[in-house]
Amino acid sequence: MQNLSFILVYIILFCSIDSSFITNYEKHFGSKTPYRTVENNNETPIEFEGCQPKKIWYIIRHGARSPTQDVLLNLKQNLPRITQIILHANNHISTTYLEELKKWKLVFGNDTVLTEEGGRELFHLALRSQARFPTLFPKIYSKEHYYFKYTDAERTASSAQNFTFGLFGNGHRNVEFPTPSPNDSILRVSRKGEREEV
Ligand SMILES: *[C@@H]1O[C@H](CO)[C@@H](O)[C@H](O)[C@H]1NC(C)=O
Ligand SMILES: *[C@@H]1O[C@H](CO)[C@@H](O)[C@H](O)[C@H]1NC(C)=O
Ligand SMILES: *[C@@H]1O[C@H](CO)[C@@H](O)[C@H](O)[C@H]1NC(C)=O
Repeated sequence: MQNLSFILVYIILFCSIDSSFITNYEKHFGSKTPYRTVENNNETPIEFEGCQPKKIWYIIRHGARSPTQDVLLNLKQNLPRITQIILHANNHISTTYLEELKKWKLVFGNDTVLTEEGGRELFHLALRSQARFPTLFPKIYSKEHYYFKYTDAERTASSAQNFTFGLFGNGHRNVEFPTPSPNDSILRVSRKGEREEV
């Protein structure tokens, strides 16, 4: 796997772990498709008889980002062609989808920055986390209760902003983040000590 950069969100340890296994694992490792298609939408609070949640730690990858130029070139060369193949194939896709696909355009802004989709991912992840662990994720921020940290990149900083916005609404402006270090070997896992853009 490529090396990854993360935002770290401390939160608080719990006494058991959700053991739902990932079955269609190959869909979870794509780095160019939205995580929305595989997200866990279960918002039921997690409870185990005789246990109280105490603490939870999250290491979260940044949300969907714009592809780098080399990937974008590949997408530009191939996706319009694949679109045409789908539109002209004798298939079972509903006309609504086909109409949408006809209107679809490949639009990406500044490469490597967090996309709108990526912002939504972190925002909703925060909401779901709060729904599942209401005592661990209070809606009012305090630095005694929460610790957030992100790596030295726009996409991770923005991911942290969208995540905390999900938790605290406008109260996210009060969140204190440490200055990111360029050599964060825990959050920025590197191959042979090298930094790479992922
Ligand atoms: C792209 O985003 C980076 C990081 O936010 C910024 O430094 C750079 O100026 C942006 N480039 C363009 C062309 O907008
Ligand atoms: C994510 O953050 C950006 C920048 O603050 C904001 O424009 C966008 O609306 C946010 N998205 C969500 C879903 O919170
Ligand atoms: C980060 O690591 C590089 C290469 O090992 C080193 O040159 C640099 O001084 C380090 N920076 C900090 C802030 O520790």
